[in-house]
Amino acid sequence: MPREVREVVFVDGVRTPFGKAGGMYAETRADDLVIRCIRELVKRNPQLPPERVDEVAIAATTQTGDQGLTIGRTAALLSGLPKTVPGYAVDRMCAGAMTAVTNVAGGIAMGAYDIAVAGGVEHMGRHPMGEGADPNPRILTEKLVDPSALVMGSTAENLHDRLPHITKERTDAFALNSQIKVAKAYANGKLQPDMVPVAIRSSELGWGLATVDEAPRETSMEKLATLKTPFRPHGRVTAGNAAGLNDGATAAILADEATARELGLPVAMRMVSFAYAGVEPEIMGYGPIPSTEKALKKAGLTIDDIGLFELNEAFAVQVLALLDHYGIADDDPRVNPWGGAIAIGHPLASSGVRLMTQLARHFEEHPEVRYGMNAMCIGIGMGGTVIWENPNWEGFDK
Ligand SMILES: CC(C)(COP(=O)(O)OP(=O)(O)OC[C@H]1O[C@@H](n2cnc3c(N)ncnc32)[C@H](O)[C@@H]1OP(=O)(O)O)[C@@H](O)C(=O)NCCC(=O)NCCS
Repeated sequence: MPREVREVVFVDGVRTPFGKAGGMYAETRADDLVIRCIRELVKRNPQLPPERVDEVAIAATTQTGDQGLTIGRTAALLSGLPKTVPGYAVDRMCAGAMTAVTNVAGGIAMGAYDIAVAGGVEHMGRHPMGEGADPNPRILTEKLVDPSALVMGSTAENLHDRLPHITKERTDAFALNSQIKVAKAYANGKLQPDMVPVAIRSSELGWGLATVDEAPRETSMEKLATLKTPFRPHGRVTAGNAAGLNDGATAAILADEATARELGLPVAMRMVSFAYAGVEPEIMGYGPIPSTEKALKKAGLTIDDIGLFELNEAFAVQVLALLDHYGIADDDPRVNPWGGAIAIGHPLASSGVRLMTQLARHFEEHPEVRYGMNAMCIGIGMGGTVIWENPNWEGFDK
């Protein structure tokens, strides 16, 4: 059967405010966070007949308890989508939601789906990183990886060792800038439109409404310099220049472009290419460099074609490794214009769609930019990159 590859578009994305692990969502179920996101997507896109959703792919790193039982399916049912809509769970740790998006994108491109929902959730308060994991001891005894490869903060210290020109001062300055940019973005109302308020409860405080991220804070180079280095004595990685431990969820609608236009759904971004790559697990944060190389090559682009970057800030050192690789300045205004995970937080499997949702908003504000990119590092030594085209660019081929 002759088959045409179809264009995949990002229609709309939302997220919950991100909490600190054990903070405002301590008594909120993880699945309720992602259900809230799916419901909001359906509500704010009334042109989408819910029965037209062909798949719901939801990521979570720890898939037990309220993140278990193939969460894409249970979240779809509880979101009020028709029972005919299938769903499943995805795991690629920090790139869970990114993988959910690229999985459904593959299905859309080959014609298996017209419309899909993809997202992720991580309640790191209820499911601490690595909970229940039982890594095969041979991975260490056969020296496939160093024990430090299994502790993400230690992999960031290892990256500092390999790239000594990335000093602690540079990572602290990058972290401070992330906090400043987030505060400014909040003040200018940039982050709120895609944030879904969540009803929360606390046995002590009663009912409440989460409307803003819990983690951002005012800080300074002086304060950052005094923080402990929990992953190594006299190390460089601190609570200030790393993303924290967070709770939150995201979801997005992806569609075949022709179907989106037929239904009158917005076309916020068109997918150009994506790639994942593996690196030595001990320097996990290096992963986005080869994944970006691959994604650029597949797209026939170079880094100079990319006008906007939404990069996950798992650790300042890994973002700076990518920026250095491409000769981009630490404070380049094209990079994370509204700050990033160091300030906002990084609820592992949910973050990929937050990056995409923000990039879509940047595209609206920057019709002069044709291409933008998301990239993130991934546990056990990987990176993921997705390149998108801006439909607001004047030469965009509809
Ligand atoms: C780094 C890490 C261990 C810190 O955890 P933590 O100790 O619970 O963090 P806290 O928020 O309590 O911060 C520690 C201290 O630094 C302070 N602090 C944190 N960020 C700060 C900032 N930006 N400015 C000033 N002080 C700050 C806190 O107030 C706290 O001070 P205290 O000890 O006096 O109370 C944890 O956030 C972590 O593991 N991050 C990485 C997560 C990860 O690996 N994700 C996956 C990526 S692949």
